[in-house]
Amino acid sequence: MRILVRDLLRSTDPSDSIHAAGWVRTRRDSKAFSFLEINDGSCAGNLQIIADVGIPGSEHLAKMSTGASVAVEGKLVASQGGNQAWEVQATSIRLLGEAPDDFPLQKKGHSQEFLRSIAHLRPRTNLYGAMFRIRSRMSQAVHRFFQERSFYYVHTPIITASDCEGAGEMFRVTTLDPVSGAKQKFKEDFFGKAAHLTVSGQLEGELFATALGNIYTFGPTFRAENSNTSRHAAEFWMIEPEMAFCDLQGDMDLAEAMVRYLVREALEGQDGDLAIFEKFVDKGLRERLEFVANHPFERVSYTEAVEILKKSGKSFEYPVEYGLNLQSEHERWLTEEYFKKPTTVFNYPKEIKPFYMRLNEDDKTVTAMDLLVPGIGEIVGGSQREERLDVLLANMERHGLSVEDYSWYVDTRKYGTVPHAGFGMGFERMLMFVTGMQNIRDVIPFARTPGHCEF
Ligand code: 4AD
Ligand code: MG
Repeated sequence: MRILVRDLLRSTDPSDSIHAAGWVRTRRDSKAFSFLEINDGSCAGNLQIIADVGIPGSEHLAKMSTGASVAVEGKLVASQGGNQAWEVQATSIRLLGEAPDDFPLQKKGHSQEFLRSIAHLRPRTNLYGAMFRIRSRMSQAVHRFFQERSFYYVHTPIITASDCEGAGEMFRVTTLDPVSGAKQKFKEDFFGKAAHLTVSGQLEGELFATALGNIYTFGPTFRAENSNTSRHAAEFWMIEPEMAFCDLQGDMDLAEAMVRYLVREALEGQDGDLAIFEKFVDKGLRERLEFVANHPFERVSYTEAVEILKKSGKSFEYPVEYGLNLQSEHERWLTEEYFKKPTTVFNYPKEIKPFYMRLNEDDKTVTAMDLLVPGIGEIVGGSQREERLDVLLANMERHGLSVEDYSWYVDTRKYGTVPHAGFGMGFERMLMFVTGMQNIRDVIPFARTPGHCEF
């Protein structure tokens, strides 16, 4: 049976008979033997293989070039070199698939831009192998975080008829017209109404929180934002907890606890993946994450944040004025230069926030909160929800939403309404934060951004 390279490298004892397989990273030849390093994707480390000329399969050694796939049988023995504890003395080696000279991932380092253009092969590099292993592990940690706190995982729909954020940034869902068969002709009436890809599972999440108590969603989310930035993708994954009998304080507490939990997870992750990012992306990564894991976050009201920004004396590209949205340059300055730590900004003016947020006593602000982190800006956006039927109806009217279309949502306030709150965390932004990667296109397997939908 094949043993993962990760497990071989962690062995406590030598072994007379092992079987491993992987892709060749490097090969060096001498007269009597070849020395190969193979990687099977199970960890950042490579397995060193010594293949003597003359063993079965060694006649194909010349074709086992960088990128080729091989399988090997042999003995696990203590390594002579200093790099790692174990290596394999092959008793047979098999060429599974050649990689001709045009294999794009030759030994030299490649730019992230170039690797983006070969997204189908980049998981075979050290950096992206580590990236997608961390992504997998962090997904598990998200579920663990909520399961430890007795939250139920709810699958909210991908296809929806509502626009949670009210920003109109939705992709329309249509079908090919089966009657005409015309390739470009789309039929609009499959659902009998306009349908879209979800921009947030929140509204449906609220329906379940007001029945099951504490729930979360974790799924693909779509936004037709035309912003070509390093932090926006048209398809991303969002984690959205929703809690009944919870207010803004409880919401901020959970968001901060979750960021800290995921940062700790990244720090404790095994197999040297974080070290890859320290080496190639950000030398100070571990130190930065340790600081975040062990220090309290800052909290500041939107009003105070605006005051601080105005007094900063810094000339920002976008204006800072009460009533305007904070731009990412403002968010980053607050967290990087002023507080020098993750910061939750709360109580935003009602005019710049969606209809579902709870109106504060001042009648000017709503119980919104954004958690900002250094290097990125907003990573979490959430709020306490408006649970008072009359206030909600007034909000909906102000936002031009028809009560008929949202009667199912209004029902939660009509029947046994409760204070409740929740937030959305952008999973890719969280991954950028824990790896130091600067572009959202590099933390998702296949990025969808304006003008880009390969595969
Ligand atoms: O702030 P947003 O728009 O909030 C909501 O959608 C709420 N309905 C969430 C809730 O309360 N349940 O989005 C939440 C987070 C942002 O803070 C950001 O991290 C991420 O989702 N996000 C994106 N990530 C990548 N690409 C995009 N285009 C994103 N838009 C939002
Ligand atoms: Mg937001």
